[in-house]
Amino acid sequence: MRAAITLTPAEQGAVDTALTTTRAVRKRLDLERPVDPALVEAALQVAHQGPSGGGEEPVRWIVVTDPQVRRRVGESYREAYAQLDQEREAPTGPGAAGITKIRGSSAYLATVMTSVPVQVLACTVAPAPTTGLGAETAKFYASIYPAVWSLQVALRARGLGSCLTTIGLRRSAELAAAVNLPPGWTCCALLPVAHVTGDDLGPAPRRPLNEVTTWI
Ligand SMILES: Cc1cc2nc3c(=O)[nH]c(=O)nc-3n(C[C@H](O)[C@H](O)[C@H](O)COP(=O)(O)O)c2cc1C
Repeated sequence: MRAAITLTPAEQGAVDTALTTTRAVRKRLDLERPVDPALVEAALQVAHQGPSGGGEEPVRWIVVTDPQVRRRVGESYREAYAQLDQEREAPTGPGAAGITKIRGSSAYLATVMTSVPVQVLACTVAPAPTTGLGAETAKFYASIYPAVWSLQVALRARGLGSCLTTIGLRRSAELAAAVNLPPGWTCCALLPVAHVTGDDLGPAPRRPLNEVTTWI
């Protein structure tokens, strides 16, 4: 469907609402309510419009609904999270309370990753970067994460919550084995997907925009 260059105020409002209220949903993932695959498919259609470097379209999605595969993926995630939790120090300083809160929520997600009705793995067939930082690495990751964010926003618009996770990639070989990842593919994110409990979602506290923006 083609759309006018300038959206109507109502359309702008809807886009802004979706973009500003798409949260990392963990504790409010509804583990009991089934998810209609058609909703996930529709959101993937939206995400499929995401950009990629050189228009190469390296993104591949693996949607896991099979209970046994979900369990393997979830257990691998839980172990990766436990390992990370052992390695890292308790947060200190002014942002410590916020980080502690996020860690509590992340710890919860690690315990329920096996039970979320849908897990989406965002994968890429692009060759993995051989240099550390720089254009090659930027292209690799930036060719997939915009689509991941589009997916999250499109899911949110349909009443579904998700959370971009990368901690599970610490055990990428185990993850690959769990989903039979084809050779040459790289998994870049694991998203739990479920209906959201409660009535609404709102914007998150963020630093003031002028603290993080420079106009020249
Ligand atoms: C690159 C990236 C990796 C992330 N990895 C994880 C993860 O492994 N586990 C997790 O629970 N959340 C993960 N998150 C979610 C962040 O913690 C979340 O986006 C952040 O807390 C902001 O959430 P909010 O938009 O709801 O405020 C990740 C987010 C990003 C952008």
